[in-house]
Amino acid sequence: MGLDYCAIRSKVLRARKLVIRGTAAAGSGHPGGSFSMAEILGCLFYKHMRYDPRNPQWEDRDRLVLSKGHAAPGLFSNMAVAGYFAESEIDTLRAFGSRLQGHPDLKCPGVEFCGGSLGTGLSYSVGVALAARLDSRPCRVYSVIGDGESDEGQIWEAAMAASKYGVENLTVFLDRNFIQQDSYTERVMPLDSRLGDAEEISAMWLDPDRWRTGDKWRAFGWNVIEIDGHRIEQVDDAIKRARAHRGGPTIIISRTIKGKSVEHMEDNPQWHGKAPAKEMVPIINAELESQSIIAPSIIAGDMTNLAAEVVRCAEGRADYIHLDVMDGRFVPNKTFLHEKVKELRPLTLIPFDTHLMIEEPHRHVRQYVDAGSDIVTVHAEVTDVDTFGEISDTLRENGVGVGLAVNPDTELPEWSLGFLPRVDQIIVMSVVPGRSGQKYIESTHQKMARLMPVLRDNGFAGYVEADGGVNLENAASVFADGARAFVGGGAIVSTSDVRASIRGFRQAVATARRRMLLDMADGLGGSDLVERWIDLHVVGARPAEVRTIAQEAGYVAR
Ligand code: DX5
Ligand code: ZN
Repeated sequence: MGLDYCAIRSKVLRARKLVIRGTAAAGSGHPGGSFSMAEILGCLFYKHMRYDPRNPQWEDRDRLVLSKGHAAPGLFSNMAVAGYFAESEIDTLRAFGSRLQGHPDLKCPGVEFCGGSLGTGLSYSVGVALAARLDSRPCRVYSVIGDGESDEGQIWEAAMAASKYGVENLTVFLDRNFIQQDSYTERVMPLDSRLGDAEEISAMWLDPDRWRTGDKWRAFGWNVIEIDGHRIEQVDDAIKRARAHRGGPTIIISRTIKGKSVEHMEDNPQWHGKAPAKEMVPIINAELESQSIIAPSIIAGDMTNLAAEVVRCAEGRADYIHLDVMDGRFVPNKTFLHEKVKELRPLTLIPFDTHLMIEEPHRHVRQYVDAGSDIVTVHAEVTDVDTFGEISDTLRENGVGVGLAVNPDTELPEWSLGFLPRVDQIIVMSVVPGRSGQKYIESTHQKMARLMPVLRDNGFAGYVEADGGVNLENAASVFADGARAFVGGGAIVSTSDVRASIRGFRQAVATARRRMLLDMADGLGGSDLVERWIDLHVVGARPAEVRTIAQEAGYVAR
């Protein structure tokens, strides 16, 4: 069974866009804390929680208690995507008479708790979980609390009670974004350790010796799991572990970034409670849609010790592990087959991005699903409407993302167009497949220019993964062409410091994205809008960096 990674990721994106749409329409609201918990809610809504949008009061449903109720746009947007109401209802956010108020209210079917008075949701959750136990109902209670909210004494009273009564059907997420209403939590009321006046918030992130929050909860008798709350694979795994834990409640301390996915909102206390200006919405949406994925290809490393290569990529913070399967028939080379994928699977939670360069993929795809792939990509040259249909059904039924690859000499075939709305990933090969370390074929740029409109016109909602000869020099132009996932063999796995190479890729792509967004601002509103876009960036080196890019591009004066 795959992780359902692509499905969750794309719904999280839809929900984030609805948060922007709703808060912009209302002219107020809380995008920052909605975005820090976006992946947490995504994993709950689209994988783990049991509920029925047509029967919100179903007695055996799982309960989601949003204790940090000001992040209501994050809750409502997911409820819309999950089917409780039409997505367009988000336009009524905070309007007089709307079901979607500034804080969750029971008058909206599906809302479990009237949030807003911070600190009370956890006590309520303990009560609901205990009631389910008394009634012998199978429901689980999931609560999301904030770190600023943890200043409330009632949180800790509830923590004691949950522990005393061994409430094992309760799972709490602490959305640990380090920012509360006016400032950084570690300045207002430290949960980990005090942040000095001259220190950046990153000082806390970089020094695990200063993380004390887990110790506090352990001292209260809780099962504590600590994760990166934006990594879908980690959130998913933590929920499974919490469910398996017996004898008491679990807290998943999720380190997150307030405003995550919109650079000017990230780690910026201003965006606790403020709405984006309407003119900025298209630019913000473009930014949300262009989050990138770095996928190191392990065959560029030591083929006699692929396990070590997976570990290097995991320690290097890869988004995917790209696995190039070659059968010696579709391409002259042989690399490894499904047994190897299965052997590597326990080494990391990071999604396995399996690229099948094999003949007759429909006869083998099941083996790669069973081996633990999260995305499987097959080649257009060896599939047709029937076999690809069969393959994509198998993948989807098993929570595996669906990928289609084209070789340098292949255009996207006519038969594939009808599948596009349900394809997650298109691999555009920029080398003749067969081995890593080849040179990027320059005509791929023109091919991408032909391909992108075809994808858009046929309802493609996934992303293009660029594979072959992608490196730090061409990553920006590959991004500008439209690719959002980047395979790196020679440029990542062959280097001695995988982590630094991945960081280099991220920076190159981030610069290209900034440029694209400035370009969009210029097109929509000239230098006036460009100036306003730049001014939104206030944290750290961002304002100067974004301004320099705008100057270099000639959008604003030097
Ligand atoms: C090529 C493979 C690629 C390749 C990438 O047949 O599909 O994934 O290993 O390696 P580089 O980035 O070195 O081209
Ligand atoms: Zn590949």
